[in-house]
Amino acid sequence: MPRPKITIIGAGNVGATTAHWCAAAELGDLVLLDIPQTEGMPRGKALDLAQAGPIMDFDSRIVGTTSYDDTADSDVVVITAGSARKPGMTRDDLLAINARIVGAVADQVKRTSPRAAVIVVSNPLDAMVQRTWQVTGFPPQRVMGQAGVLDAARFRAFIAMELGVSVEDVSAMLLGGHGDTMVPLTRCCAVGGIPVAELIAPDRLEEIVRRTRDGGAEIVGLLRTGSAYYAPAAATAQMVEAIVRDKKRVVPCAAYCDREYGVGGYYVGVPCVLGARGIERILEIRLTESERAAFQKSVEAVKGLVQRMAELVAPSADACAQR
Ligand code: NAI
Ligand code: 2OP
Repeated sequence: MPRPKITIIGAGNVGATTAHWCAAAELGDLVLLDIPQTEGMPRGKALDLAQAGPIMDFDSRIVGTTSYDDTADSDVVVITAGSARKPGMTRDDLLAINARIVGAVADQVKRTSPRAAVIVVSNPLDAMVQRTWQVTGFPPQRVMGQAGVLDAARFRAFIAMELGVSVEDVSAMLLGGHGDTMVPLTRCCAVGGIPVAELIAPDRLEEIVRRTRDGGAEIVGLLRTGSAYYAPAAATAQMVEAIVRDKKRVVPCAAYCDREYGVGGYYVGVPCVLGARGIERILEIRLTESERAAFQKSVEAVKGLVQRMAELVAPSADACAQR
C-alpha cells in the first residue's frame, strides 16, 4: 500500500518543524514547498531532514520543492505559508497580505490535490481557513484549521507545571477563535479524571487561563524574531496523524459551523472528531451561560475578521462565490 502523501506549503519555522514531527512519526511521504524566491531552501531542509532518517529510524521520503507538480494528489495538505507582521504594518495589512497568499496557495491546492484534506495554520487563523474553503470549494469537512490543539496543549502544559504532574494526565478542551477571545473550558479540564477546579483555586486557575490566551504573545516576546513553532507544528502533526491513521481523535479544530452552536457559516474552534474523512463530527455540548456569552463574543470577533477580509480582498477568485 502506498504511504500517505503529505504536502506542507511554507517551509519556514512551522512548516519545516511540522515536516520534522511528521517524519519522526512516519506518517507518510512528505513534500515541503516554498516560493521560488527561496531558491534551494525547501530542498535543503528536505535533504537535511532525510539525512536524519538513518539516525532516528524513519523511512519517509522527503522532497523539497518550489513546484506544485511535486505535490500532485496529496492526501493531506498543510498550509503554513504567510507573512509575519512587520514594523509599521497594521493588522489589516497582514490580513490582506496573508489572505492573498493563502488564496493563491488554496487555488493551487484545488488544482493539484483535489481530494486532499487541508489543514490551515497561517494567521489570522480563522479567517485563513474560511478563505481556503472559499477558494478551494472543497467540502467543509475537508478544510480545517489548527489552533485549538495548540491552545489546549498550552493550557495542559501550564496545569501540569502548576500541579507538578504528567502532561499525559491533563486533558482540556476549548472553543472559539484563535486569539484573545478563545474560550478555555475549565470545567472540561481534568487531571487524571479529577476536575481541575478540585485541585487549583479559582483565582490561580483564572491566571492560567489568561496565560493560555496570551500564550502566543508570550513566546513572540521572548523570541523577538518570530512566533512559536515547536508546539504549533506538533499540534499540526497530531491532526495529520488523526487523518492519515483514521484515529477519530476528539480535538478542538477550527471547523465550519453552520447550525452547529448557532454560528451561521463560519470557521471557529469547536470539539471535533477527526479521522480519515476530515472533520467527521462536531460535538455540540451544552454551554453554561458565561461560556455561551464568551463563545458568542469570540464568534463575533471571527465574523468581524472575515468580513474585513472580504472588504480587503476582491471576491472574484472565490470558487464558492461561483457555485
Ligand atoms: P515563517 O516566516 O518562518 O514561514 C513562512 C513561510 O511561508 C516562509 O518560508 C515563506 O517564504 C513562505 N511563503 C510565503 N508566501 C508563500 C507562498 N505564496 N507559497 C508558499 N510559501 C510561501 O513563519 P512561521 O513561523 O512558519 O509561521 C507561518 C504562519 O503560521 C504564520 O502566519 C504564523 O502566524 C502562523 N502560525 C499559526 C499558528 C496556529 O496555531 N495557527 C501557530 C504559529 C504560527
Ligand atoms: C501562536 O499562537 C502565533 O498563532 C501563533 O503562537
